[in-house]
Amino acid sequence: MSEIFDTPPLLPDWASDDIDPTVPSIARIYDYALGGSHNFSVDRELAEQGRRRWPHSLRSAWTNRAFLRRAVIFCAERGIDQFLDIGSGIPTAGNVHEILADLDIDARVVYTDIDPVAVVMSRRILAEIPWATAIRADARDLDAIIADPEVYERLDFGKPVAVLLVALLHYIPDTADPHAMLAALRDRLAPGSVLVISHMTSADWPEQELADTLEMSKQTPTPLVMRALDEITELFDGFELVEPGLVRVPCWRPDPEEDTSATYFDTVGAIGVKPGS
Ligand SMILES: C[S@@+](CC[C@H](N)C(=O)[O-])C[C@H]1O[C@@H](n2cnc3c(N)ncnc32)[C@H](O)[C@@H]1O
Repeated sequence: MSEIFDTPPLLPDWASDDIDPTVPSIARIYDYALGGSHNFSVDRELAEQGRRRWPHSLRSAWTNRAFLRRAVIFCAERGIDQFLDIGSGIPTAGNVHEILADLDIDARVVYTDIDPVAVVMSRRILAEIPWATAIRADARDLDAIIADPEVYERLDFGKPVAVLLVALLHYIPDTADPHAMLAALRDRLAPGSVLVISHMTSADWPEQELADTLEMSKQTPTPLVMRALDEITELFDGFELVEPGLVRVPCWRPDPEEDTSATYFDTVGAIGVKPGS
């Protein structure tokens, strides 16, 4: 009898054995915020705890996704047809390859994420799409990402590539030296390459609220690191920011329906282009 009770609950088929369903993950929380179904109760509970405290918190995932879409369109309009999306998340609607397919662009896309569910689900939906793939990788080891055969066989780093670090870098602690990471990335990219970043900022947060948010995020394996606006700008060293520079994400070249009046968004974004011929 006790054996029955000792048997752990079965995980769904999208969850690999190395997943601990009792520990919330930011990829699954974000999936929940976007209306996806690849999350556990522990993720939903933390997301709802956040929403009770900050009612806009889940909505900002949608705003961030809308920025991603506008950024991909910007790159495609510049003629870029290679995309490296790092920290790409669990695919819901409006992923990079879908945006490009809607634009009828002949492109190549590599998604990378540290989260096993994000990678399993991405590979599933990409099974029939030869021009896009997903690999499991840690953004802190960019050299390994670029050296991965799935990356270098698809992306030609001698030509412009768009690197998307959308809502990723606020999970990369200072100890991992994101500036050095980005400098190394910049050196690998051809002139004309594009760097897209969105990042949560500590600007305007009351001290106690900021402390509470950071504390709450420690329940996940990738706690938040909010950065000041000048620190985020420094991440673009060696890239030229296109207009309007670093702004709250709804204000980056908004679509007509975008609500740019909301002042509570704590995620800023910008696009930089590597100069040169
Ligand atoms: C908030 S989600 C953003 C997803 C997607 N970029 C978007 O904007 O829709 C952040 C993603 O970054 C991933 N992530 C966090 N730390 C990472 C790391 N060190 N390496 C790779 N991915 C990471 C998480 O697993 C999660 O899927």
